[in-house]
Amino acid sequence: MSGKPEIIPPSVTEPQAPLVALTINGSEVRVRADQTILQAAELADVNIPHLCELPEMEHYGGCRMCLVEVTGMERPVPACSTRVSENMDVATDSDHLLRLRKTNLELLLSDHNAYCAPPCKYRCPTNVDIPAFISLVGDGDYDESQRVLKENLPLPASVGRICPHPCESQCRRQEIEEPVSICLSHRFVGDVAIQKGLHPEKPGAPTGKRVAVIGSGPAGIANAYYLALKGHAVTIFEALPEPGGMLRYGIPEYRLPKKVLDAELEPLWQMGVEFRANTSLGPDVSIDQLLDQDGYDALFLGIGAHESRSLRVEGEDLPGVIPVVDFLRDVTLGKPAEVGDRVAVIGGGFSAIDAVRVALRLGAKDVTLVYRRSQKEMPAHEVEVRDAQEEGVKFVFL
Ligand code: SF4
Ligand code: FES
Repeated sequence: MSGKPEIIPPSVTEPQAPLVALTINGSEVRVRADQTILQAAELADVNIPHLCELPEMEHYGGCRMCLVEVTGMERPVPACSTRVSENMDVATDSDHLLRLRKTNLELLLSDHNAYCAPPCKYRCPTNVDIPAFISLVGDGDYDESQRVLKENLPLPASVGRICPHPCESQCRRQEIEEPVSICLSHRFVGDVAIQKGLHPEKPGAPTGKRVAVIGSGPAGIANAYYLALKGHAVTIFEALPEPGGMLRYGIPEYRLPKKVLDAELEPLWQMGVEFRANTSLGPDVSIDQLLDQDGYDALFLGIGAHESRSLRVEGEDLPGVIPVVDFLRDVTLGKPAEVGDRVAVIGGGFSAIDAVRVALRLGAKDVTLVYRRSQKEMPAHEVEVRDAQEEGVKFVFL
C-alpha cells in the first residue's frame, strides 16, 4: 500500500482503546491500541500470510508465517500476536521475510500429521468415495449411496462379503471407538439395490464402438460394466461356463453365494452386454481374429490368475496333492475332489483358509492348516482365521 496517509475507523466495541498511528510498508495507519499488527494490516488492506491465527482463539504464534519486520526490533515478530504501538514502523514484505516464511512452511509440511483426503479412501484399491457413501447410508438414502458406490465398484453386494477391507484399518473413528463398518455397509447397500432393482444410471447413447472383454472375473466385469455405461457394445468371452471368474470359481459359496453374484451381474445383461461362455482365448478365439476379422474396436484382457503357485518341493505331484485353485474351482463345477478324512492345507492366505473350510464342508473330519510363519504374518484376515478355528480347523505355525 502506498500514497496518502489513511484513517482506518476502529470497529465498534466498548470500551474502545485509544487510537495509535503506525506505518505499514510506508503508509500511515490508525487503529485501536489493543489491536495486533495483523489486524491493523487487514484493516489497511495489506496482506500478511497467516495460517494459525483464529479470531476466536488466543494467539500463540505457532506457524510463524505472519512474521514481519518492526524497526528497532532485533528479529522479525509474528504479526498475529504482536500489538501495535504509537509510531511503530512495520515492513511486511522483504526477501528476508519471504525466505523465513518459506522455511517455516517447509518445516510445517515436513511434519504434517494430518490428512488432505480421508485415509480410508487412499487404502481402498478402487478408491471408493467412502465418506460420501457412508454419510448417505447414515441418512438412509440407499438409492444415492449405491449410485456413489457404483461409480467405482460395480458389485458392492459381492465385494461387501469378501473384501479384506483395508479401508477400515485406517478409519479414524477407531481413535475414539472402533472403525466404521465400511465393508458390511457395501453389502447392505448392495443387497438393498438387488432387492429394489436399483440401477445407478442409464447407459449413454450407443457409440457404435464394439469392445471384446476376455475374461469375466472382477477386472473383466468392471470393464464391461463401465464400457456399457458409456454406450459401447461389449462382448465378454469366458473360458468357463458361467461369469464371475474367481468370484464364482475361487470363492466358496458360504462366503459369496452365487445367487448374490448372479443378481449383481443382472445390470450388465440389461445394458446389453453379451456373454460367450466356454470360449477360451487361444483354442476358440484369437486376438487377431477379434480385432481384424470380427471387427472389434478394442479388446480388454482380464484373464485372471488361475494357476496355483507351486511349492517346488518333492512329492508335490503325488496323488492326493491338489493345487488350491483347481480344488476350489472343481467344487463350484460340481466335481469336488475326494478329500477323505484327514486334510492338510499348506499356506496362510485367503485361498488356504477357503480350502480348509471347504474341506470341512466336503466331510473331512480332521483338517489342519500348516503355515511357515506365525499367525501374525498370515495374509488371511484375522476374522477368517478365527472363523476357521471356530469350525474346528487346526493350525500349525512355525
Ligand atoms: S471394503 Fe474394500 S472395496 Fe470397500 S471401501 Fe473398503 S477397501 Fe474399498
Ligand atoms: S498466523 Fe501463525 S504465527 Fe501468526
